[in-house]
Amino acid sequence: MDELGYQPNALARSLRRRQSHTIGMIVPDNANPFFAEIARGIEDTSFAEGYVVILCNSDGDLERESIYIDLLMKKQVDGVLLVAAGASADGVVHLLSRKLPLVVVDRDLPGLEVDRALTDNFLGGVIATEHLLQFDHRRIGCITGPAELTLSAQRVEGYRQALTEAGLPVDPDLIVQSDFRDRGGYLAAQALFQLPAPPTAIFACNDLMAIGAISAALELGMRVPETLSVIGFDDIHLALYANPPLTTVAQPKYALGKAAAEMLIERMQDPLLAPRRRLLATTLIVRRSTASCIA
Ligand code: RIB
Repeated sequence: MDELGYQPNALARSLRRRQSHTIGMIVPDNANPFFAEIARGIEDTSFAEGYVVILCNSDGDLERESIYIDLLMKKQVDGVLLVAAGASADGVVHLLSRKLPLVVVDRDLPGLEVDRALTDNFLGGVIATEHLLQFDHRRIGCITGPAELTLSAQRVEGYRQALTEAGLPVDPDLIVQSDFRDRGGYLAAQALFQLPAPPTAIFACNDLMAIGAISAALELGMRVPETLSVIGFDDIHLALYANPPLTTVAQPKYALGKAAAEMLIERMQDPLLAPRRRLLATTLIVRRSTASCIA
């Protein structure tokens, strides 16, 4: 074999054995550090169990997500870990019809009989907003993620509940829809600053948008947190090095990836398991981008 430089054909071997020891993972934005930290948990856990991981980027596009699902099936992967591109499960139904093991990670797809590894987004929205309320902020802006994602609605629902429980009205003008990207957070913050009664604090539903919002505030001469408090969501590694270091709601990214990979491997070993749902807690990380309201 060495003399001939013979390399066994992995695809032929997987067809023969009906196992490729390969897992497919699809994320909606591989440029967002959040997904890199989830992928790390998935890859470490899978590799330790003898699986390699193929990472695909749907770029938040359902058509591209379907193309990757088809590709992974052609590659004979043994299972798929999916962070959904949107709210539609059409591409996934095709995958399920082929009885391919699947775990939905981070972004839920309601109504599917599948395994889910999620974090508590509603709780995260509540603790982010309560943190700002404790600093006496009463005009709190909320920059949301894409409206079609269940986790965007859950975070906003937590924001609404915290305001209501504090006896404060929910002003729809203070809720601006965005896209989980830094530029989106920058533009959404600019819109909030144009209001007749601008917010004294902003809850951005992910760290990239929070960093964009801080940039927009500094450009207008505001000081964070002296004249504007900003809290994010995710606790990506960069949040620690933002200027100022970002107060945020931490998602247990590595643990979420680890849990998802463990659920998938268990599913591949026992396809008849009843669908399971793992919900991991979100927690408050206080740094230096939030402070008492002086307005
Ligand atoms: O930062 C990207 C966002 O989308 C995160 O909040 C995560 O939950 C992902 O779904």
